[in-house]
Amino acid sequence: MQQIKRKTILGIETSCDETAAAIVSFSNKKFTVHSNIIRSQINIHKKYGGVVPEVAARQHIISVIAVIEQALETAQKTVGKIDAIAVTAGPGLITSLMVGVQTAKTLSYIWNKPLIAVNHMKAHVYANWINNKKIKFPAICLIVSGGHTELVLLKKDTHFKKIGQTVDDAAGEAFDKTAQLIKLEYPGGPEISKSAATGNPNAFTFPRPMINSGDFNFSFSGLKTAVLYTVKKQKKHDSKMTADLAASFQQAVVDVLTIKTAKAAKKYQAKSIMLAGGVAANKLLRETLQQKAADLGTNFYVPDIQYCTDNAAMIAVAGYFTPKQNLNKIKINPNLEL
Ligand code: KG4
Ligand code: ZN
Repeated sequence: MQQIKRKTILGIETSCDETAAAIVSFSNKKFTVHSNIIRSQINIHKKYGGVVPEVAARQHIISVIAVIEQALETAQKTVGKIDAIAVTAGPGLITSLMVGVQTAKTLSYIWNKPLIAVNHMKAHVYANWINNKKIKFPAICLIVSGGHTELVLLKKDTHFKKIGQTVDDAAGEAFDKTAQLIKLEYPGGPEISKSAATGNPNAFTFPRPMINSGDFNFSFSGLKTAVLYTVKKQKKHDSKMTADLAASFQQAVVDVLTIKTAKAAKKYQAKSIMLAGGVAANKLLRETLQQKAADLGTNFYVPDIQYCTDNAAMIAVAGYFTPKQNLNKIKINPNLEL
């Protein structure tokens, strides 16, 4: 870990449909989460079947100050002053990002505290440090979220090299779109995983796209289309059918993700395999990748479920690893790369 000077960080996250703030401190080589407040907009976007950017930004404006206040109040019992502010500057929805960044800039100016612009995808990876693990390098991290699916080689905690990514839909996007096809609610990931628990993963043989492609890229749009054709062919559609479709789809996604991650770990002689992002909350994915890592004799790390989906504790932790910037130089970048 690089030299850490900032001791207590306020993290702010508004890149998509969660308004979040958290206070995290670092002492005795340990991160402690003093507060982790998340105000989700899921119930508002549910009726549209996905996140509506303009609606999301308006909700962030309504919530952001109350959420920060609550994070500060909760943390007050266990920690003193704030030393710095970390905020997501990208990737994400531009108008949503603007709310968090402008709020953070204002607080940084009036409190006279340094501001750190954080990359949301790196923050997902840094969620793995929350439980104070000593991660061994080189490490391979599979990042799977609503907008991204990436395989990353980390030579050290601040050195990220993307070795593969999706060529079309992200894994979370595939879960969300497939859920719509089989009449499950948004967000599709948790719904599919719930329904799959009672389904048969071998009921339908769905493709495992690019499983033998020889590179570390992924593709999920064909898999979603395969589910669509299967749904169209069925004469009746009851809850057993939904569960079987969900389980078969989930198995196909998990097979591709875990087999390719294990191949990358072998190729790069990784000492650790890490999992990160919202889809890392998926039980089958967590368990299957853990088993694959054990088979390879590699360490395995995954954040607690509450730190897999969007949260501000991971943004604060990322603040420890990211250099601070001059207020005027901080730019929002909706397409920020790793
Ligand atoms: O990281 P995240 O919270 O937001 C982004 O940065 O995109 O990821 C959200 C994605 C959604 O697509 C959601 O369906 C998926 O994570 N997700 C899951 C599960 N929980 C959330 N996917 C599969 N299984 C889950 N249990
Ligand atoms: Zn995210």
